Amino acid sequence: MSVLGGVSARPDFDTEAPTVPVHIGIIMDGNGRWAEARGLPRVAGHRKGVDALRRTVRHAAKLGVRHLTVFSFSSENWSRPAQEVASLMGLLRRFIEQDLRELDQNNIRVRPIGRRDNLSKEINELLTHAEETTRANTGMTLLVAFNYGGRDEIARACRIVAERVAAGEIAADAVDETLIASYLDTAGIPDPDLIIRTSGESRLSNFLMWQAAYAEFVFVPELWPDFDEAALEAALSEFRNRNRRFGGVVAGVTGG
Ligand code: IPE
Ligand code: IPE
Ligand code: MG
Repeated sequence: MSVLGGVSARPDFDTEAPTVPVHIGIIMDGNGRWAEARGLPRVAGHRKGVDALRRTVRHAAKLGVRHLTVFSFSSENWSRPAQEVASLMGLLRRFIEQDLRELDQNNIRVRPIGRRDNLSKEINELLTHAEETTRANTGMTLLVAFNYGGRDEIARACRIVAERVAAGEIAADAVDETLIASYLDTAGIPDPDLIIRTSGESRLSNFLMWQAAYAEFVFVPELWPDFDEAALEAALSEFRNRNRRFGGVVAGVTGG
């Protein structure tokens, strides 16, 4: 039986809202350093990173996380050597070919986010296939941020809104945060509560720029291939200790 076998039997998520984030974003960083530390080619680190991704998806689903966004390839990662870019494309292809069936059996819905018009036909078809195969699933949503950049996503959304305003379909004064969010790749998905970045780097690197406005950030030292269930649980326990205020005040602390 699959590791995810118990997912559909999980308790109603709403009752657990304070302790388990509804949406977690992960910046899966440090594959190259993991490999270099072992005298291996960087691609060996990316391959190990796929194992960490599998572990994390299984464990997040088991914990009742509703949406998990994983940063797999950024709009800036094209600047890497062509051979590394090609191997990252190959790993995405293999991940979808090998894991889609298990994801689907475990009621996980796959949703690619990111720019599509400059990806190969083959990668585009695979992303569409993964999305369509799992469209009706009602368990965790796995948002795969591939060829994704937050600024690019906002610019693409603005372009569509501008076209619709120019066509007279939207009034300029109807353009507000809710409208813009509805044109982002993440439309309909609640903002991330928690963003985890591995490998000790403390930056966003263009991940979920708009959506991260009130996310809690947890930066962990582990390199992504070493990230495991215990590391995820540790990040969740740090999240539970955070005091989220969303610009307001904390009840009972100010005494009115
Ligand atoms: C993250 O690992 C994976 C991708 C960005 C695709 P890196 O390849 O960035 O690893 P480091 O940061 O060089 O160690
Ligand atoms: C961010 O990591 C992108 C992904 C994890 C896919 P990078 O390694 O590309 O980010 P920088 O260059 O260190 O900021
Ligand atoms: Mg990196």
